Amino acid sequence: MSASLRRPRVLVTAGPTREPIDRVRYLTNRSSGRMGYAVAAAALAAGCDVDLVTGPVDLAPPPAPRGARLTVHRVETARQMRAAALPAFRGCDLAFHVAAVSDFRPARFVRGKLKKRDLAARGGALVLELVPNPDILWECGQRKHQRQLLVGFALEAADGVRNALFKLREKNLDFVVLNGPSALNATRADVTVLARDGERISIRAEKSRIGGQLVALALERWRRQLHKTKATIR
Ligand code: C5P
Repeated sequence: MSASLRRPRVLVTAGPTREPIDRVRYLTNRSSGRMGYAVAAAALAAGCDVDLVTGPVDLAPPPAPRGARLTVHRVETARQMRAAALPAFRGCDLAFHVAAVSDFRPARFVRGKLKKRDLAARGGALVLELVPNPDILWECGQRKHQRQLLVGFALEAADGVRNALFKLREKNLDFVVLNGPSALNATRADVTVLARDGERISIRAEKSRIGGQLVALALERWRRQLHKTKATIR
């Protein structure tokens, strides 16, 4: 069925990742998953089918209205998130990468529990070697085709617009949503949406409302893009 006749398929990544150090310890961040879940809820409410790839969060999956399909993929690490997100990306029309993916993970996983006693033998300091995680959004940007729309998030402490615009180009995005560290673990946020064509929209609201506006904006742009590509193919 042509994309304009069926329900749009949406991928959302949400929440933090956890990168294990040993059997009981891990590296993570303060992401609550609220923004990602709000985007997933808004996409379902707008009549889309949704793949929600979620790190560990304290939230219930959003309700799917009758007829809409919600598939929840629960993951812990960035590499697990990538393994779930890439196949879902292949079949989706719009993707929102809201997850706060850990940029690094410990180079080695200690099978048992690191013992304080063993550390003391090395002068008491624990030196963790970290290696970079795959950038899932960048990989999606490389694979994106004309009929897909890709949205990324940028959490910037300083020089926000410049860094966000750099990400927009580097990761081949259609939109980048800029927010500050105060958005982490909060119910409200103050975001600026930067579009590839230079458009800028600021939204300050509850995350649930921001989710609705982002989905409406992206769906409208995706539909317009679809018509344009159809017209060129004809
Ligand atoms: O480069 P930075 O981490 O600031 O980019 C943030 C954006 O990239 C978010 O949309 C996030 O979901 C995505 N990301 C990703 N994989 C990573 C790091 C970030 O998909 N390893």
